[in-house]
Amino acid sequence: MRAFTCVEVILVVCVAAHLAAQAPQAGGGAPQADQDRSQRLYPALQRPPGDPELIARGQALYGINCRACHGLDLRGGDLGGPNLLRSQLVLRDRQGEEMLPVIRDGQSGADGSGMPPQPLSDADIRAVVEYIHDVLSTASRQGGPPAGDEVEIDILVGDAAAGQTYFAAKCASCHSPTGDLQGIGARIPGAQQLQNTWVRGGARNADRPPITVTVTQSSGERVVGQLERLNDFLIVLTEADGRHRSFSRHGDTPLVEVDDPMATHRELLPLYTDMDIHNVTAYLVTLQ
Ligand code: HEC
Ligand code: HEC
Repeated sequence: MRAFTCVEVILVVCVAAHLAAQAPQAGGGAPQADQDRSQRLYPALQRPPGDPELIARGQALYGINCRACHGLDLRGGDLGGPNLLRSQLVLRDRQGEEMLPVIRDGQSGADGSGMPPQPLSDADIRAVVEYIHDVLSTASRQGGPPAGDEVEIDILVGDAAAGQTYFAAKCASCHSPTGDLQGIGARIPGAQQLQNTWVRGGARNADRPPITVTVTQSSGERVVGQLERLNDFLIVLTEADGRHRSFSRHGDTPLVEVDDPMATHRELLPLYTDMDIHNVTAYLVTLQ
């Protein structure tokens, strides 16, 4: 056996000293205790209600694509899919980040059975995910996760100051705490309802602001009105004087520009974390 060279000995000593210096830090980092209380609960039970239209579409897609394997009530089906209401993966899921890859790419099971990839667009998968979350939030006491008795109380765990910062960054381009949203915390009774209202962008049965559309024909003539119907072949609108106009579409002709005031609300939906939602709600409650 050869002797250690001097360099090796120094190296070993250095590494040992380095590790020793690091050791106390490893256990003593910033405490995570203050982390979102709701993160220790099941995210799936902490969600605001989803978009009813999306849920309905998801339910239909679930019936066609998933039901045979996962069952009508999501608790497992004839063709061997597991109970989704008990799945840790489903319970961990917030916005589809856990479920989407499994649904899109499939997942092979331990016994070689597994779940085949589902031929659905990402938008369709999101609808199914929304449906599964909706069922979870309403239906899963029996055989489900521990009872969600904190849900109602948990609504106000947010940090109003953080919510104000978030509001300034993401909402203030359209809303103002001293303008349209003045007193909203007093106007809408209860944190839960307030939260549902802002996430959805209005009360459940509120009239949505109309979608405006501008059609520019090849002659250069522009027609502006309220959108009634739009698909690949046809656009129908109502002009300010109440006249209905329809145009057939061939690719980009005529040019169609849609202005949907609620588009941003929909686009923000998948971006909120639970924390953002709690914080913004805590802030809006202070607008009395
Ligand atoms: C042919 C049967 C079959 C179909 C159709 C099917 N699944 Fe599955 N699915 C399975 C099986 C089997 C597993 C378990 C795979 C494993 O053992 O890892 C599974 C797993 C899953 C999981 C992960 C559960 C976990 O805890 O790992 C999710 C989420 C899921 N399926 C959702 C869906 C959705 C949504 C659809 C419809 C769009 C669908 N599945 C269609 C059979 C199916
Ligand atoms: C691009 C513009 C836009 C952005 C950004 C936006 N909203 Fe809205 N919001 C609207 C529109 C349009 C409505 C529909 C009602 C209206 O016309 O005021 C609405 C409705 C609402 C309502 C219901 C108002 C009421 O009186 O019932 C609340 C609350 C709300 N938004 C909160 C938010 C919050 C919180 C954010 C940021 C996370 C946000 N909005 C971001 C455009 C926006």
